[in-house]
Amino acid sequence: MSALSPALAERLAAAGQEHLIAAVEALGPGGRDRLLADIEGLDLDQVGELVERFCGGRGEAEHAPTEIGPPEAVGIPRDDAQRARDREARAEGEALLRAGRVGCVLLAGGQGTRLGFDGPKGDYPFAPVTGRTLFWHHCAKIAAVRERYGCELPFCVLTSPANDAATRELFAENRDYGLAGGSVRFVVQGTMPAVDAETGRILLEAPDRLALSPDGHGGVLAALRRDGVLEEWAAAGVTTAYTFQVDNPLVRVARPEFLGHHVLAGAEMSTVVVRKVAPEEKMGVVADVDGRTEVVEYSDLPDELAELRDEAGDLALWAGSIAVHAIEVDFIRRITDGPAGLPFHRALKKVPFVGPDGTRVAPEEPNAIKFETFLFDALPEARATSTVEAAREDEFSPIKNARGADSPETARRHLNALYARWLTAAGVEVPTLDGEPVDLEIDPRLALDADQLAARVPPGLSIQGPTAIGPEERG
Ligand code: UTP
Repeated sequence: MSALSPALAERLAAAGQEHLIAAVEALGPGGRDRLLADIEGLDLDQVGELVERFCGGRGEAEHAPTEIGPPEAVGIPRDDAQRARDREARAEGEALLRAGRVGCVLLAGGQGTRLGFDGPKGDYPFAPVTGRTLFWHHCAKIAAVRERYGCELPFCVLTSPANDAATRELFAENRDYGLAGGSVRFVVQGTMPAVDAETGRILLEAPDRLALSPDGHGGVLAALRRDGVLEEWAAAGVTTAYTFQVDNPLVRVARPEFLGHHVLAGAEMSTVVVRKVAPEEKMGVVADVDGRTEVVEYSDLPDELAELRDEAGDLALWAGSIAVHAIEVDFIRRITDGPAGLPFHRALKKVPFVGPDGTRVAPEEPNAIKFETFLFDALPEARATSTVEAAREDEFSPIKNARGADSPETARRHLNALYARWLTAAGVEVPTLDGEPVDLEIDPRLALDADQLAARVPPGLSIQGPTAIGPEERG
């Protein structure tokens, strides 16, 4: 049985965390070992600095930009010159893929608390006809891109300690969702402790466990480095990471036009944006902040800036981030070389905890601060960036909430509408129900976009009701 060493007790006291000394001492042997392991995993100096910066009402407003405006962005092509540029970008992106220089990273380390689904969010059965899951769908896209460009397309899934085992089990049970054996790599992000918002004391989730949660999607960069992926990729000639999130079933994986614009701009990091539909929409905006490209989180964007309109009456800060990025592997190495890494943000949350008398408290109001880094905070560190606009209806419909906006229901409707447009363009009639297309699914291995569907759709395909079309129906 390990005991609390005097040196650790001293460090805890110096960091204002002496309640943890009492918590360790109150435990029997097994519990003590567990709690000590959690405590030893902490960077107490870092926690101390963050508490100093963010607790007790400090750090409400993060740095206020002096000048903020829309980013320079490659728009959706509308004229011949823009279409020609897009074709050029597509050719560049396809060449990059064919040369095996792209690796994909699926961010799936989050807790998915808003959806309230039991298990990793990737196991959510969103597909209306087959009940297929988000993991299934993303992996089918990876398989389809590999086939289309004849490339290996290394694929990493970011997990967190809380969902790593469950995620690996799902992949094992589902035989990597049809991907070639051994071609899925997992990396595990780090955790940070939740602290009492007023006192900065680290909360206990159980008498023998600290309240730890994933350190934010920015943790992916350190995880890729720590787990050796950057080295493996460099050795395999992979220069560019394509990152996307588990909760967006419409996401385009390794979209060549986007990769091509990234290459043509000589960018170290690029990002995809869509037009915000309303000022209050909860998405970060990509903006030019004091001359640098940054993402400003919706919670940090004052209402008067979110509502600002340009001369045409459109939102001035229109570019909503959909969290799809292309990032140079060398740039990730540079960012993770530095001692500071990405900056931490505070998130005020309701975190259940165990009080000093051992009773469990389920707070009704936010009581705790969680510390998270955001992947998009790497953008202003890049020597060159590019921002590329996508059509929202083609690429973005996240599943965040159980009901209402950004829910399984909105994603189902948007996917049906997307597939109905592809089918109609391919000359297939799509029946409607109450003015909306019937439930549709198109396996990504049959078609990744409208053009591929038009080329592959079986002749004489007739749709009568809810329909799932798979690669076996290739005409
Ligand atoms: P969200 O910000 O929506 O967070 O993550 P979440 O944890 O999934 O959901 P809530 O807020 O608890 O309801 C956006 C994406 O970033 C990933 C998520 O898995 C999702 O794909 N993510 C988020 C991580 O990989 N790690 C994190 O620490 C946070």
